[in-house]
Amino acid sequence: MNSKTVYIVFGVSGSGKTTIGKVLAKTLDIPFYDADDFHSATNIKKMSDGIPLNDEDRNPWLQKLANKIKDWHHEKGAVLACSALKQKYREMLKSIHNESIKWIFLDGNYDLISSRLKARRKHFFKKELLTSQFETLEKPSTGISINIDQGTEEIIVEILHKLNLKKSQLGLIGLGVMGKNLAKNILSKKISLSVYNRQIEGKEVDVAKHFVNEQSNDVSVLGFDDLSSFVSSIAQPRTIMIMVNSGKPVDMIIEALLPLLSKEDCLIDGGNSHYKKTSEREKKLLKHGVYFLGTGISGGEEGALKGPSIMPGGVKKAYDRAGKFLEAIAAKDKNNNSCCAYIGPEGSGHYVKMVHNGIEYGEMQLLAEIYHLLRFYCNMTPEQISEIFESWRSNGKDGFLLEITADILQKKEGEQFLIDIILDKAGQKGTGGWSTIDALELGMPANTISEAVMARNLSGMKSQRGIASNAYQLKQASITENEADFIISLEKAFYATSIINHTIGFDLLAHASQEYDWNLDMSEIARVWTNGCIIRSDLMEKISSLFVNANTTSLLLFPEIITTMKANNIALKNIAATAIKNGYSLPVISAALNYFLTYTSAQSSANMIQAQRDYFGAHAYQRIDKSTDEYFHTNWKS
Ligand code: 6PG
Repeated sequence: MNSKTVYIVFGVSGSGKTTIGKVLAKTLDIPFYDADDFHSATNIKKMSDGIPLNDEDRNPWLQKLANKIKDWHHEKGAVLACSALKQKYREMLKSIHNESIKWIFLDGNYDLISSRLKARRKHFFKKELLTSQFETLEKPSTGISINIDQGTEEIIVEILHKLNLKKSQLGLIGLGVMGKNLAKNILSKKISLSVYNRQIEGKEVDVAKHFVNEQSNDVSVLGFDDLSSFVSSIAQPRTIMIMVNSGKPVDMIIEALLPLLSKEDCLIDGGNSHYKKTSEREKKLLKHGVYFLGTGISGGEEGALKGPSIMPGGVKKAYDRAGKFLEAIAAKDKNNNSCCAYIGPEGSGHYVKMVHNGIEYGEMQLLAEIYHLLRFYCNMTPEQISEIFESWRSNGKDGFLLEITADILQKKEGEQFLIDIILDKAGQKGTGGWSTIDALELGMPANTISEAVMARNLSGMKSQRGIASNAYQLKQASITENEADFIISLEKAFYATSIINHTIGFDLLAHASQEYDWNLDMSEIARVWTNGCIIRSDLMEKISSLFVNANTTSLLLFPEIITTMKANNIALKNIAATAIKNGYSLPVISAALNYFLTYTSAQSSANMIQAQRDYFGAHAYQRIDKSTDEYFHTNWKS
């Protein structure tokens, strides 16, 4: 803090110069002066008579103040509250001693200030003069501007932050779409923030600076394209969110940051990183005394801005310190609790996000299959299908993906429904596939998730599909049964498939928790997924409440779910059979049904697999008439 600085708090009468100036002076431990106290008696008389001052009245007063500023600079410094409405008045104030003056403009609109003035009856300034003040005011182009439509304490924090007298509470690296929206979300929670974006000529130029300029002046944000200044602008121990593309960019940022960090600083990787990479990065950083929270963030662009679902994993101590920021910016559940909770150690946060995306892939494909059947088997218009989905939403099956699918089906371009002209070739960034790979490594089923990934892969073979379609000329029949009955069955099949898809996801989580010793809380994970994320739904609310006292129970074995599945599984079978019989593929619905039929069969076909393995590879088998500890081999040819 520079004790010799003179801070000039300026703005129209009623903007709060005296109040803010006094608190600022107290905070900085320097004297406060009110410029009004330096007016001549004639000026004061004029003003109290409601006569505006002219420049002739003002000049000697400003000269006097300019001299005082010089004196204060040589003493302890000071805070001066002064209207200084015109640039030429400000020039006069700094005419004798220009060094170390910091200008703080209190910015507010006419209505706000006139209502404040009404409340200040004792002040000699009459409200009628406000209009002339606003006419006179020339907004400054230098110094800092503060929006006064906030509390005194917040204004002071912002002034200190903007003058670099107080460091940012949080840092954020990477102002892509997600990073920018998260930064706005953070600022809306009154958390002071430093943002950094790399500088690439012709591509990413002054991104951080532009971001800062685009924000209203009631937020505390500093922008950098220099990593070292960025790091030193953040209060220690530092918390820094990394919002860059997953993969190499994360490692590059960590490498560049590491020499600038201190022990106990905490990095939060908010991208879709692979959980194994997260565990490696955490280990490496912990060796340097730096914490790392691998954090899944779901909710897309809008979620990032308005409140995403947040899944942080890493050392608990790190979460205890940095988690408050994440909890503040996350969505809220139905009880107004944050949809952010500590998930567990190592890469568990990113693991949970990966499984979230696996479930997401399953749900998306499920809805795509149902839409496809209604569109081509039932020959319905997108609008009619949208109405059906809307009715399911109000029938206890609401969810974000169902909602957006209903919306998508309404969208027209001219006379045409947009969905009809979108190329049927699905993209993906890979996280759904990661769930399948991990399920394979853990020896767990991932039927619906894997089929959803495979459906996207197969959709990518667009030209081959065209050739095959021509070669085979298979017929896709249209509906012959009662349409209303079919739609009722479809709703049941939808719900049953969704339950199975969620079961697969949660079972994978439970198994990983045991395997990696993460102690995951299923109810809490489901609660974090009840709002903000892509798979939020009525079903998720139910799942969260079911898991409260039964963390390790498989979803399909809860009595309530058994009742639901008993009521819906016939419809699931009928829909799958009808669709396939009539030439429509249903990768996720049929995968769910197959999973369900196998899962509920005491006797599977795996005895034959064991016999085959033993036949050609002498792999041995267990017998139902002997202890399961014993293995047998048969010489099958003799
Ligand atoms: C989320 C999403 C998000 C995902 C994109 C794209 O939870 O907000 O899961 O993280 O990356 O939706 O995913 P794909 O490109 O793989 O479909």
